[in-house]
Amino acid sequence: MRDIEFHNREKEIKEIGAIQDSRPTLITFIYGPINSGKTELINHVIEELPDDYVVFYINLRTKFLASYDDFIESLFEMEMESERALKKGKETLAELVSSVTKVAGIPINKEFLDYVFKDNKPKNAFSYIIKLFEEVKNSGKQPVLILDELQKIGDVNVNGSLIYELFNFFIDLTKEKHLAHVFVATSDSLFIEEVHSEAMLEGRCRYLLVDDFDRETTTAFLKKHGFTDNENVIAWEYCGGKPVCLVELVNAKINGKDVESEAKKLLKIRTSQILSIFDEISLGKVEYSEQDIIGEFKSFEQEELLQYGRINKEKIFLVGRNVFFIDPTQRTIKPQSRLNLLAIREVLRN
Ligand SMILES: Nc1ncnc2c1ncn2[C@@H]1O[C@H](COP(=O)(O)OP(=O)(O)OP(=O)(O)O)[C@@H](O)[C@H]1O
Ligand SMILES: [Mg+2]
Repeated sequence: MRDIEFHNREKEIKEIGAIQDSRPTLITFIYGPINSGKTELINHVIEELPDDYVVFYINLRTKFLASYDDFIESLFEMEMESERALKKGKETLAELVSSVTKVAGIPINKEFLDYVFKDNKPKNAFSYIIKLFEEVKNSGKQPVLILDELQKIGDVNVNGSLIYELFNFFIDLTKEKHLAHVFVATSDSLFIEEVHSEAMLEGRCRYLLVDDFDRETTTAFLKKHGFTDNENVIAWEYCGGKPVCLVELVNAKINGKDVESEAKKLLKIRTSQILSIFDEISLGKVEYSEQDIIGEFKSFEQEELLQYGRINKEKIFLVGRNVFFIDPTQRTIKPQSRLNLLAIREVLRN
């Protein structure tokens, strides 16, 4: 299979660049519908960053987070036992940071690890990270901390909610100490909704939406992959600008398949998945009534994007099922993708 190279995102890259060029003052929340390309964008930005930035990127997606220890393990990059034995934990912090530029985890050695795990308090982990970042600064470089899929931390408790401890830590790193840039990404719009209404974050963070490609970007992307005008229209009709969906169609075309039948297949699958919500209702697995869910769907019979006044339980449920996406900063609601919009309309026709 051919590798599909990173496409565009000029506006977002410029915005992130401007943030990185200035003194750290606010936490940046990167949000957007599922599969809109947030992680891809972050990885691209990291790759392109000059060497005077030291990036600590942690993706919590694949991490199992049931306890504080799990959380600590997910943050830190443990050395292999053999390396550790060699160094016998004698490295200084300056030595630990001297060689890093882009790492998937905070470097730590045995000696500090004991301190960080000592009494199950995030305070120790945070003060270690601050010391490490200060070392990075002392070496003339700018630390950047990026946490992807942060909502996964939601349920972890450490005498209170870990997420609050983390937010305080991020505020300390940015607004208070101006020590590191902090980017937090999430595909969970319910999490962003909570963040958005959280008093402690008011005036201390900014929001950066990474939405699906717009029409122009989509056309350019598909043209690059040899789509005809007609295939381009079909792709936009079914996938809108959802990168993952467009990549699927590009791969189908590369493999000699018909773009329209592939797009129809994708719609069929999504429609069936949405219909399964009604199966669950019939089986009593879901507490909402068919009527209420259909009522929510009906608002998208003609519209693609709506302003919401009050959010209700049904909307929250459908956001949780990745059918709807809410943008609490604009108080707008829309299907997670063009495919979801079409599937909703199919369901209404059934
Ligand atoms: N700018 C881009 N250029 C080319 N392909 C892209 C781009 N952005 C996203 N993609 C494709 O879409 C897929 C999904 O993107 P990605 O995982 O970054 O989305 P996400 O918003 O992080 O998803 P999630 O909501 O699950 O966190 C990628 O694996 C890649 O194939
Ligand atoms: Mg992602």
